[in-house]
Amino acid sequence: MKIAIVGSGYVGLVTGACFSEVGIDVVCVDVDKKKIDNLKNGIIPIYEPGLEEMISRNMNKNRLNFSTSLAEAITDSEVIFISVGTPPDEDGSADLKHVLAVARECGEHMEDYKLIVTKSTVPVGTSIKVKNAIQEELEKRNSDIDFDVASNPEFLKEGAAIEDFLKPDRIVIGTESKRSEKLLNRLYKPFTLNGHPVIFMDIISAEMTKYAANSMLATKISFINDIANLCEIVGADINNVRKGIGSDSRIGKKFIYPGIGYGGSCFPKDVQALIKTADENDYDLKVLKAVEAVNKSQKSILFDKINTHFEGNLKGKTIAIWGLSFKPQTDDMREAPSLEIINKLLSAGAKVKAYDPVALDEAKHHFGDAIDYYTDQYEALLEADCLAVLTEWSEFRVPNFKMIKRLLNTPIIFDGRNIYDKDEMEALDYYYHCIGINTKAKTNEIRLAV
Ligand SMILES: NC(=O)c1ccc[n+]([C@@H]2O[C@H](COP(=O)([O-])OP(=O)(O)OC[C@H]3O[C@@H](n4cnc5c(N)ncnc54)[C@H](O)[C@@H]3O)[C@@H](O)[C@H]2O)c1
Repeated sequence: MKIAIVGSGYVGLVTGACFSEVGIDVVCVDVDKKKIDNLKNGIIPIYEPGLEEMISRNMNKNRLNFSTSLAEAITDSEVIFISVGTPPDEDGSADLKHVLAVARECGEHMEDYKLIVTKSTVPVGTSIKVKNAIQEELEKRNSDIDFDVASNPEFLKEGAAIEDFLKPDRIVIGTESKRSEKLLNRLYKPFTLNGHPVIFMDIISAEMTKYAANSMLATKISFINDIANLCEIVGADINNVRKGIGSDSRIGKKFIYPGIGYGGSCFPKDVQALIKTADENDYDLKVLKAVEAVNKSQKSILFDKINTHFEGNLKGKTIAIWGLSFKPQTDDMREAPSLEIINKLLSAGAKVKAYDPVALDEAKHHFGDAIDYYTDQYEALLEADCLAVLTEWSEFRVPNFKMIKRLLNTPIIFDGRNIYDKDEMEALDYYYHCIGINTKAKTNEIRLAV
């Protein structure tokens, strides 16, 4: 079977590579000519573990191709997946212009039956808009070619995307015909042989499932961050509290790690979009509004700690940063807490020396020459007044603390991801600040303030 994946970003490339890996003939399409030229030459635009090798393996077998011609891809493929971006509009709702542009082109170019599947995260009701857009184009051509639309939201995690696609917790598919259900069942069969379930449902429920899933995960993060902040005030230790609640199987251990707020290309925009959908339907989504508000303030909590430690005088101070991507194993910096923290440090007159294992090039698009970039994590520390850890990359977990102390002007660590042990840091004579734990450094600050 031949399929087209339209939009060759994080989702499109992983989807295309994984379908071709199981023997399906795939063409990945994008409007970005430079991206497609690079892909044809084996240059992958994103960092995603295992992706480069998988793409090259399947290109060599001629099962995976890249093109800028959507018209050709539509003609040649039976199933067309739409995986273009759905960035937030000015009012927070998802901007559907790319999705609907692809739908219209499908209507313009199809010559026989097509199944058009929306994989992009889109608000409830979008598949109806996709269907109408295709129908309108067909009517312009006086054509009554049969087609189906379906919704197949994607749940992969950046950094573990290949593993998630090959061995999904579940595949959610919204359809309105037996024909499309059969086609998608056939396509996904290789990924479900080990018992990973396909959950078929109506299209509106499938669209809603994606938003509800991301909103639930965002809620867990904001909840634990809110509790962490209270722990710090009352003298409780969030790490103990987290273990205490996570051992309850109804709550679970995952997604209850405190930190500096959620970022990335999905949670912030999807929470915003669901709130907007509710508003449009005269429903007040109170929980999610609070989730968003907590996240907004959490993103500046580490800056506040740094600022308080230096008694509000950051002018001329040098801050070393470890970690720029919104989470480990990706170079994605969309909505990353590092953006907010670094911009605040720069506005306060501080100098920033930054290290990240893979996101330095991406960071240069955001900060240009406003900060200094290092390809060695220890070099970034030289003559800095403190270290702030913003992403929990594995290589930061057991660093050489003696060397860190030698390189920094003063032994101060702001741990935005709680990856170090408070007692160990205090035994090593560091001023140690983290999230949701009342450290000695914090006690010193309180004394200073008094
Ligand atoms: N990134 C994730 O982790 C993730 C996970 C699940 C779902 N999603 C959703 O999947 C969708 C895509 O996300 P992404 O992160 O892959 O986006 P992305 O920005 O990385 O990629 C989108 C691609 O679509 C291309 N494009 C835009 N308009 C086009 C058109 N008319 N024809 C062809 N190509 C076009 C862009 O050039 C870009 O390369 C979004 O709706 C997102 O919310 C993303």
